[in-house]
Amino acid sequence: MAEIGIFVGTVYGNALLVAEEAQTLLQEKGHQVALFEDPALTDWQAYQDKIALVVTSTTGQGDLPDSIAPLFHEIKQQLGYQPGLRYGVIALGDSSYDHFCGAGRQFDALLQEQGAQRLAEVLTIDAAEYPEPEVVSQPWLESWSALI
Ligand SMILES: Cc1cc2nc3c(=O)[nH]c(=O)nc-3n(C[C@H](O)[C@H](O)[C@H](O)COP(=O)(O)O)c2cc1C
Repeated sequence: MAEIGIFVGTVYGNALLVAEEAQTLLQEKGHQVALFEDPALTDWQAYQDKIALVVTSTTGQGDLPDSIAPLFHEIKQQLGYQPGLRYGVIALGDSSYDHFCGAGRQFDALLQEQGAQRLAEVLTIDAAEYPEPEVVSQPWLESWSALI
């Protein structure tokens, strides 16, 4: 049993839906899972030696949604090395935009810079191809949870 924090960035609620379904799936696997809709740095710090799952859409031109942008900047400015953290990223986007899944990719790049351990490749979900994102996220989560 692992402790997992799910950190959500959303504008219209798609990423929240994916995050809620991820919470249910991971709980069914026996993990202790908390979901943060407006995550603060203190929420993140509670998982420094545990597991974080970032589920974020992209807005603007490759930008982070307002619900998760402050966390990203605080991690960048206030935390340094996070070698004890294991993490995953589910990035929602739309390939008709430039900077496809830019927010999720930025988060991944930051955590890589800070020495955190990525459990599996970032999952990118293209809204142009998959109007129901959970069709893609559910199988990915099944394999991701096996790596925990
Ligand atoms: C104004 C706007 C800007 C967007 N910009 C991007 C973008 O730069 N890159 C991308 O991959 N997707 C972009 N998207 C697509 C969203 O990330 C995608 O529709 C996602 O599923 C929305 O999830 P949410 O409901 O959790 O916010 C944009 C969507 C809107 C409405």
